[in-house]
Amino acid sequence: MQSTGPKKIKCAVFISGNGSNLKSLIQFSKKKDSPLSIELIISDNLNAKGLKFGKIFKISNKVFNYKNKSITEKKIISEMINKKIKLICLAGFMKILSINFIKSFKGKILNIHPSLLPKYKGLNTHERAISNNEKYSGCTVHFVNSRLDSGKIILQKKVKISKSDTVKSLAKKILIQEHKLYPKAIKKVFSL
Ligand code: GAR
Repeated sequence: MQSTGPKKIKCAVFISGNGSNLKSLIQFSKKKDSPLSIELIISDNLNAKGLKFGKIFKISNKVFNYKNKSITEKKIISEMINKKIKLICLAGFMKILSINFIKSFKGKILNIHPSLLPKYKGLNTHERAISNNEKYSGCTVHFVNSRLDSGKIILQKKVKISKSDTVKSLAKKILIQEHKLYPKAIKKVFSL
């Protein structure tokens, strides 16, 4: 028999790309004081680089092509039920979940977004922050509700934009903070 500690929350992480936030969440989940157990990785993209972390850390993954959103979401929901998933962490997942999907996991979906919400919802956040001459940007972890990037904020981290920053350099600086912020936000909501 394994571990005698408190039961961990079974979690699925949804990704579309590099999966650096997924990696940081997996590393966090392995810590003793983490409330999470990552049971499943979901991707809409067969070529998502982050899928490699499933292999490296031996976590099962499922890739769904989103040709038909409502059929795909039904399949995802049955996968969640099979694996008894109680929390969904969106980590660079670039598809928008339907209202029905969100309702069926009400209060159980978190997202990380690369801006200081409510500023710069949606895509191209760094580009817009730089072209508006913002002095700061950052990242936000929030609950997902039916309006895009508008759910209750859990934690934010500010990052200074310097004059020499490009979209690429800013994205990199913010990503480093994202990797710390997501675990911290999860601890804040679900600490054991
Ligand atoms: C992260 O910066 C995340 O905040 C952003 O995509 C990147 C994924 O990086 N998410 C969004 O823009 C969601 N709208 P990762 O795949 O290396 O974690």
